[in-house]
Amino acid sequence: MQKPIISASILAADFTKLGQEVENVIKSGADWIHFDVMDNHYVPNLTIGPMVCKALRDAGCKATIEVHLMVTPVEQMIDAFIEAGADYISFHPEATTHIDQNLRRIRDSGCKAGLALNPATLPSVIEYQIPLLDFVLVMSVNPGFGGQKFISSALSKIKHLRSMLNSHNSEARLAVDGGINAKTINSVLQAGADTFIAGSAIFGSNNYQQAIDELKKFF
Ligand code: DX5
Ligand code: ZN
Repeated sequence: MQKPIISASILAADFTKLGQEVENVIKSGADWIHFDVMDNHYVPNLTIGPMVCKALRDAGCKATIEVHLMVTPVEQMIDAFIEAGADYISFHPEATTHIDQNLRRIRDSGCKAGLALNPATLPSVIEYQIPLLDFVLVMSVNPGFGGQKFISSALSKIKHLRSMLNSHNSEARLAVDGGINAKTINSVLQAGADTFIAGSAIFGSNNYQQAIDELKKFF
């Protein structure tokens, strides 16, 4: 298990001042920026794409950007985000016929690769991909919107995935996305996650530093 970290989901940020929001949240202790990409096709919502990632980089953003692709097909968006300066890229296995190929596509570029699992997606989907995975992202809500309630069946899935990763001596991070706040984070940590994605729990607060400290006090 890796050192626990917080990835701040900018889905809940104020998009009229995104650059400033990213800077503030990193200054306040967030370790990564979680960048939600939705296409109104794989999920019923539409957000931001590679141009926005590149704009952050061009404006001098040095933070680790972890891109969560909720799009289908995935190939072109993978290439575009590699080009736009992403560090980590995950996609959903249901969004492509070629999981292995796309993980290699990400890794061959020098980026870190992850698979994002919906609440009903079985952990076994990762079994033969473990050597290609830098992280596994467990969705604890259905993808599409911020501010939803944590689905507690994610806990047993995280335990299962943690033991799968450990038995393969994998150093992949185990991330959880959706409904993470000061009430839910500890149970997720105990279940074996090490990467905590939080949107509304951070950006919904008027003091980011305090909100992040509240989450990190369990680490
Ligand atoms: C949901 C997104 C999440 C979302 C989490 O589809 O993938 O990253 O921003 O938001 P909160 O933390 O508000 O549940
Ligand atoms: Zn996400």
